[in-house]
Amino acid sequence: MNDRQLVAVIDFGSQYTQLIVRRVRELGYLAKLYRLEDFPSLDSPGAIILSGGPKSVLEPDAPDIDFNRLQHFGVPVLGVCYGMQLLNLKHGGTVKPGDRREYGPAALLPENTGDGLFKGIAPSSQVWMSHSDTVERIAGDCSVIARNAEGVPVALQWSDRMYGIQFHPEVTHSHEGSAILRNFLAMASGLKMFDIGDFKNEMTRSIRERAGNRQVVCGVSGGVDSTVLAMLLHEAGVHMRAIFVDNGLLRKNESEEVQRNFARIGVDIETVDASERFLKALAGETNPEKKRRIIGGLFIDVFWEAVGDAEMLAQGTLYPDVIESASNAGSKASVIKTHHNRVERVLELQAQGKVLEPLAELFKDEVRALGASMGIPHDILWRHPFPGPGLAVRCPGEVTRERLDIIRECDAIFIGNLRKYGWYDKVWQAYAGLIPVKTVGVKGDERSYEWATNLRAIVSEDAMTADWVELPPELLRETSNSILNSVKGINRVLYDISTKPPASIEWE
Ligand code: XMP
Repeated sequence: MNDRQLVAVIDFGSQYTQLIVRRVRELGYLAKLYRLEDFPSLDSPGAIILSGGPKSVLEPDAPDIDFNRLQHFGVPVLGVCYGMQLLNLKHGGTVKPGDRREYGPAALLPENTGDGLFKGIAPSSQVWMSHSDTVERIAGDCSVIARNAEGVPVALQWSDRMYGIQFHPEVTHSHEGSAILRNFLAMASGLKMFDIGDFKNEMTRSIRERAGNRQVVCGVSGGVDSTVLAMLLHEAGVHMRAIFVDNGLLRKNESEEVQRNFARIGVDIETVDASERFLKALAGETNPEKKRRIIGGLFIDVFWEAVGDAEMLAQGTLYPDVIESASNAGSKASVIKTHHNRVERVLELQAQGKVLEPLAELFKDEVRALGASMGIPHDILWRHPFPGPGLAVRCPGEVTRERLDIIRECDAIFIGNLRKYGWYDKVWQAYAGLIPVKTVGVKGDERSYEWATNLRAIVSEDAMTADWVELPPELLRETSNSILNSVKGINRVLYDISTKPPASIEWE
């Protein structure tokens, strides 16, 4: 790929940097995130965006950029938040520290909506601010192209095709943020549009080149990333072994379903049934973190035993897993993934150039688009996420076969009804779990003393936050009736109406 064709996003440490890349890609352009340290090796990008950052440009150790080099490229540059203040300083202006951080919505009042950065933008629209520094004085050939409701400059333009905006166009709270980014990118010439077909051809060519005649091993879970990965290796025509570990913590008929799905897309997989080993290892353990560690550790053992002497390993690592961004910090999923993806053996293989991560440039929705372009059916690409430790995180307390079986039954009824009522694709993730607390009820004419199940259905963008879904009462009623009538061991059905935060999506 020619650098000239892409949009380089330079990371100054904002928690939103990754979102800038995402928005640019949503607009159809090729975009890549560069760490500030990598700026000197940037060849010749088509446009440059300087991200926001947590520091003040006035701090002595504030991140800096080689301004001569930036100007030398002669391409449009957009500084966002920190990026704007830095450009202002570099052009000879001054910046004053705010007495507090401004965080939240603000009005954007552009000077000119007929042309340039704010072409077609409303005379007043909401933008999102998160900053403390503000512009004190502008210098030289700079003009103020937008202010906020108090008349403070929030967008600047310099004659060398550089722009600065105080707000974050990449967050959805900036209502016209994408339109502003689109206007900016329209000023660049020769930018290449992202094409998933081109990407696939490039990927398969590079996989073939790197793998040669070696055997490539990959782990599959039935989730979208590993399925698309396996299909890509299959299309590339390399010697592949796809290994599926059944840890005994899967949902009802899941092992069969995963095998059937791979048969549907014509990819052979090897299933390793390790369910006994997992259940034995978990016996008696009630501490959530210890349970996770047992499952994570055993998974690695089982997987590598099955792999033997791998010549090459392929992993479904995605872009958000790769780039160092604060926006991912704190996500349990990404920490766990990193754990799996970076264990010692993988690091060794990596040092020998034997790890393939062909999806590492893509976001989840792009992985889905890639999967669709290879003919993977919609229902496989849009399966809800399922955690690596499986039902164990939905089974507080000890994990036993009996408890897992109860969860499987409740979950199958709930998910079946979500599908039946057309709600499966509308929710981001849903499941039934177990609350191992016995309460009194009446079943038939008899007193019952049984456990409860919790139903959870959430919407989310990235699992960092989540909201519970207002499912139709008839769906909930039918689910509750079916569970109470058919699942032995359950006499109470609860619907979890907790947002994340403060709750999490899983119970453990
Ligand atoms: P929480 O419970 O942290 O879950 O709100 C956020 C998302 O991550 C999934 N999850 C995991 N995924 N390994 C995974 O691959 C894990 O250990 C793990 N724990 C939670 C969870 O299902 C939800 O989508």
